[in-house]
Amino acid sequence: IPPVITIDGPSGSGKGTIAHRLALKLGFHVLDSGALYRLLALAAQQHGVQTDNEKGLEVLAAYLDVQFEDNNGEAMLILEGEDVTQTIRTEEVGAAASRIAALPGVRAALLQRQHAFRELPGLVADGRDMGTVVFPDACLKIFLTASAEARAERRYKQLLQKGFDANLAAILEDIRARDLRDTQRAVAPMKPAADAIVLDSTALGIEAVLQAVIASACK
Ligand code: CDP
Repeated sequence: IPPVITIDGPSGSGKGTIAHRLALKLGFHVLDSGALYRLLALAAQQHGVQTDNEKGLEVLAAYLDVQFEDNNGEAMLILEGEDVTQTIRTEEVGAAASRIAALPGVRAALLQRQHAFRELPGLVADGRDMGTVVFPDACLKIFLTASAEARAERRYKQLLQKGFDANLAAILEDIRARDLRDTQRAVAPMKPAADAIVLDSTALGIEAVLQAVIASACK
């Protein structure tokens, strides 16, 4: 079976960037599991399914028509035939994604879809519970973290770069709320797997983190 490297951690820890760079380096596939929750949140919004309607969301998840396409090395996300790559990155969709992610039925409904990304030559999986729940047999598990302030600042710069309006104080508040929801939820709470390497990137740049991860990467 194809090897998996998991990179878990909170919002803004840099795990998405690290996952993509690592996958590129190893020639592995990438799973951005957060994108699946965001896609489902957006689909729910478009179909008028409330974020607390667990049954409705389960059905939506089971029939979710999504494609992950490669656009010159950048992931392009197609929902029901429409390019939603930008749309799913708003704070509004992120907050809704975090709310629906707390529902056990939703997580169960998305499990198989995540497993389907495990293909040769290997997979780098980015999320909150990749090492603990989705790929417990991963050959390398990284838990990437950073202070809430540092993460808010990164997210702020990222949003501005993408041309979105952004407010640093509001982002910090949102990050704290999301951390709380992600760590306190009953099902698959965010935490390092027992066998994960915990890396604090508050004072480390992307290159330094990447070097640390590559140094222990399995193939
Ligand atoms: O970009 P950011 O790190 O804020 O979020 P994301 O990785 O795109 O994921 C959006 C939301 O989905 C997170 O706030 C989590 O609540 C949830 N999520 C999850 O519960 N489990 C995962 N494996 C990935 C994301």
